[in-house]
Amino acid sequence: MKYRRILFSILAVILLASAAGCSSSQNEEHKASAKARLITEDEKVYVGFILDTLQDERWYRDKELFETQVKELGAEVKTLAANGSTEVQISQAELLIAEGVDVLAVVPYDAEAAAEIVELAHKAEVKVVSYDRLIKNADVDYYVSFDNEKVGELQASEIVKKKSKGKFAYIGGAETDNNAVLFRNGALKVLQPLIDKGDIELVSDQYTEKWDPAVAERNMKEALKKEGNKIDAVVAANDGTAGGVIKALSASGLAGKIPVSGQDAELEGVRRVYKGTQTMTVYKPIVMLAKKAAEVAVKAGRNENIATETSVHNGKADVPSILLEPIAVTKDNIQGTVVKDGYLDKKDITGE
Ligand code: GAL
Repeated sequence: MKYRRILFSILAVILLASAAGCSSSQNEEHKASAKARLITEDEKVYVGFILDTLQDERWYRDKELFETQVKELGAEVKTLAANGSTEVQISQAELLIAEGVDVLAVVPYDAEAAAEIVELAHKAEVKVVSYDRLIKNADVDYYVSFDNEKVGELQASEIVKKKSKGKFAYIGGAETDNNAVLFRNGALKVLQPLIDKGDIELVSDQYTEKWDPAVAERNMKEALKKEGNKIDAVVAANDGTAGGVIKALSASGLAGKIPVSGQDAELEGVRRVYKGTQTMTVYKPIVMLAKKAAEVAVKAGRNENIATETSVHNGKADVPSILLEPIAVTKDNIQGTVVKDGYLDKKDITGE
């Protein structure tokens, strides 16, 4: 790692100096600050963690837990968030590579466009771990996530337990996110046989740009208007979109009367499940994801061998993968899941 790091800190200086058009003394300054900013010990592994966004509550947990785990493994980490922009995510990857990281853990905003990050990284002998979301059509080194089709199956199954006939709406996630495609595939595995039997009619089936709750609310309002408020159930892809859906339902006096799914066990999501305006959410123990992903990232940075249980084909390669189990949370098992694990506090949920 040492020679490569010297090479890249020189590259960092060139990048920064050309960016700032600095004098030679300032070059020295930049050299010191670039090195000081990230690379302080040559023998250590440096991980760059690039998030899509911090819009949803869970990503704060991912950031904190992943950073803690990486440091516990004796490595260093720098986290950046791209706020839902491919351009920003790619330039953040370029900067971290120039600063000399050994491995990148990436939550891609756009599964396809992020392939460019893998190419840039590999050119610099930097490994790439797809964190929670898979990068498509690229030679990704490792993928660590949950069984995301199972998430969709759990969501649709809990809704069908409440309502197995009638008009259904599917409010998906962002189509740029491969997880949103997997969640929808999983939900349709449960719904399609009932649709084929004529028990269920899918009257609205839409992805939600950037997972934006306001977009989900607008799409739900349009679906209610089109169906004269005669919608019997909603499979929503996460708690953010579920919150938007329930706002639209309450505007039509239907909140709590129609089953709605969610995901991520956000505090507001679990509160709605407790109150009964939302039927379920999906709890994904982020501490396990962060721990596994940190182990994989640091080992990859040390060029150590990594055993994975399975592999996932991303359109180009069979990516060595670790897929964790998601857990359905309803009013009946809030205590035995998110509260027992200390993920959420009972008082915060119930207000009692
Ligand atoms: C998905 C993730 C979900 C949800 C969503 C919105 O990729 O798996 O947990 O949070 O992004 O950020």
